[in-house]
Amino acid sequence: MTSNNLDEIAKSLVAPGKGILAADESTGTMTKRLDAIGVASTVENRSKWREIMATTAGAESAISGVILFDETIRNQLPKGSMIADLLRKKKIHPGIKVDKGIVKFNSDEETFTLGLDGLTERLEEYKKLGAVFTKWRAVYKVEKNLPSAAAITANSVGLAQFALLSQKSGFVPIVEPEVLVLKGSHDLKKSKVVTEKVLKDVFHWLKQFGVNFDSMLLKPNMALPGRDCPNQTTAKEIARATVEVLRVAVPKQVPGIVFLSGGLTPDEATEYLKTMNKIYRNLPWQLSFSFGRALQQEALKAWSGKSNNVKATQAVFLVRAKKVSAARSGK
Ligand code: 13P
Repeated sequence: MTSNNLDEIAKSLVAPGKGILAADESTGTMTKRLDAIGVASTVENRSKWREIMATTAGAESAISGVILFDETIRNQLPKGSMIADLLRKKKIHPGIKVDKGIVKFNSDEETFTLGLDGLTERLEEYKKLGAVFTKWRAVYKVEKNLPSAAAITANSVGLAQFALLSQKSGFVPIVEPEVLVLKGSHDLKKSKVVTEKVLKDVFHWLKQFGVNFDSMLLKPNMALPGRDCPNQTTAKEIARATVEVLRVAVPKQVPGIVFLSGGLTPDEATEYLKTMNKIYRNLPWQLSFSFGRALQQEALKAWSGKSNNVKATQAVFLVRAKKVSAARSGK
């Protein structure tokens, strides 16, 4: 694939009114989500859930791409089709999470993301399975002296290697440095400072490694005060703080910023995205979404593992997808 094709795919992932569904929960995370609705975490139930979302009629008006997990892209769905084929028929790009999760780094407090070993070979397989974009998530804790410079740099280098290998193999990388801003009692200012520091370092290393900014997307957290901060802020303050960080840290060649929802409620995540797009009209990048929980939470509850609920579940999923899509234009 030429870099021009990659530019086009990156742009189409953040086309007006559209964004990404993150359905790439690892088996461990998906088990927690299914436990919460009293459903056994079997391969079949995990596939069923992904099939319900992928076959929602009309979802393609709001969703440009779906990030999948290894198990979901490899296995047949309960009715026999492959998920990447279903998505492609709807003109939705299939994507794949290629990191292998986090391990403790340096101290018990911080983490480093694994997955570079054998990545090029895995990318070749994923290409055959129909994926056109990739994702890699690094995680940072906010505390008095955290994240450390060592954890920031180690994760930036990992993200840069991942992004470069992805582009060389013909994929659009989604670079996801997730600062766990909702955890703790820090204020918005601290969240802003840490997010800015991480993003500046990430782009420093992306540049060093020669990653093409036109053919990638950034998936960051919004700047938010911790849930335990006594000084909670308005959507406007959050929107302003987040865009101020992006302005100083993200090169204008990057076509889009696709926020994670990070534990915000579906309404909060939608409201903050809407507010950013309402206040800021002339930013160099599209401000879009790559939500996991904020897109799935309500529908997952409506489903509760029962086949009788599938129609109602898809209706709930579509309503949220449309709200998030409308938030792309400040509505
Ligand atoms: P959330 O939107 O639930 O944070 O998930 C996004 C994601 O892909 C995390 O890696």
